Amino acid sequence: MPDVTTTAAAPNPHLAAYAARGLKGRILSGVQPTGNLHLGNYLGAIRNFARLQDDYECLYCVVDLHAITQPQDPAQLAAQTREIAAAFLAAGIDAKKQIIFAQSLVPAHAQLAWVFNCVARVGWMNRMTQFKEKAGKDREAASLGLYAYPALMAADILIYKATHVPVGEDQKQHLELTRDIAIKFNNDFKAPDFFPITEPLIFGAATRVMSLRDGTKKMSKSDPSEFSRINLTDDADAIAGKIRRAKTDPHPMPDTAADAEKRPDADNLLGIYAALADQEKDAVIAAFAGKQFSEFKGALTEIAVAKLGPIGGEMQRLMKDPGHVDAVLRDGGERARAMAEPILAEVYRTVGFLRP
Ligand code: TYM
Repeated sequence: MPDVTTTAAAPNPHLAAYAARGLKGRILSGVQPTGNLHLGNYLGAIRNFARLQDDYECLYCVVDLHAITQPQDPAQLAAQTREIAAAFLAAGIDAKKQIIFAQSLVPAHAQLAWVFNCVARVGWMNRMTQFKEKAGKDREAASLGLYAYPALMAADILIYKATHVPVGEDQKQHLELTRDIAIKFNNDFKAPDFFPITEPLIFGAATRVMSLRDGTKKMSKSDPSEFSRINLTDDADAIAGKIRRAKTDPHPMPDTAADAEKRPDADNLLGIYAALADQEKDAVIAAFAGKQFSEFKGALTEIAVAKLGPIGGEMQRLMKDPGHVDAVLRDGGERARAMAEPILAEVYRTVGFLRP
């Protein structure tokens, strides 16, 4: 990044108020309602959302404004918004204690994003690798929203002055930009410590789950091959079939971490097993060293079905009860608005907008 630097170890004055309440800080994170949720979303993000809720005050957002940076079918967008909310609930997030909501229910996200569009520099945005990936070859035809997306993501976080953001590894660059926007805003408006310098929370054995068909490519909602990913709503047969067809190599299972690292398909499956079993990857490598892939795949199928089956089942049940899911989102939206509005008012005063 250009004229600002991020200092990871800077003390965060925003944390004191949370510490007094026995908490480590405030979390915001989001998931796009653009296609089926997969194992990467779960292990890299949603499972951690649930695990963090005892230590942090949490807001978990279905980011529908982000979704429309690329074309969406309106009916499907609405249905998928419910599906993500159902996944949050099925993963064990307590909607009474924490906040589950849809981004478009809180206008302050978009309002702060405009201010951030004027703080962020074009040079910063030009470095965003995800824009380059998503825009593809014909960058001229990408929406302006897709280009500005990371400034809206910064607004999602900072409209609540969130101190921590759990995400998968692919969002790291966007979080660095969020820090740079916060630092520049605080400097430009001589408002030291106005926005916190947010810490990413990237942890677990599967911070970057790769495609089952190609261990060098990220598992993604947009991969045309259904066999590249395990969806959270897949049943036991589908999970078994996808693991059976997962790409491997002709050698026996790796026997050291160094060996696994050279074999991306095997390494990915080992990481998935470790995350699902809550074990260190080294322990999993030791347990299956030198065995045949078929034996390992049997064990992986068993644990995947045991861990994901109940979540998929609960999601299916919740999706048959849209009234309940909508009530959760409505209540979460109201509570999120109540938190965001005073912070937006402070921003507007700080920027110099007249409040007559
Ligand atoms: P999205 O919707 O692409 O993904 C949601 C979460 O899942 C993680 N993830 C993965 N983790 C491990 N392996 C994978 N293969 C994998 N694929 C996805 C993502 O890192 C993410 O944590 N820009 C965000 C959404 C967003 C957001 C925010 C996140 C909007 N505003 C504010 C945090 C805070 C996105 O597109 O995630």
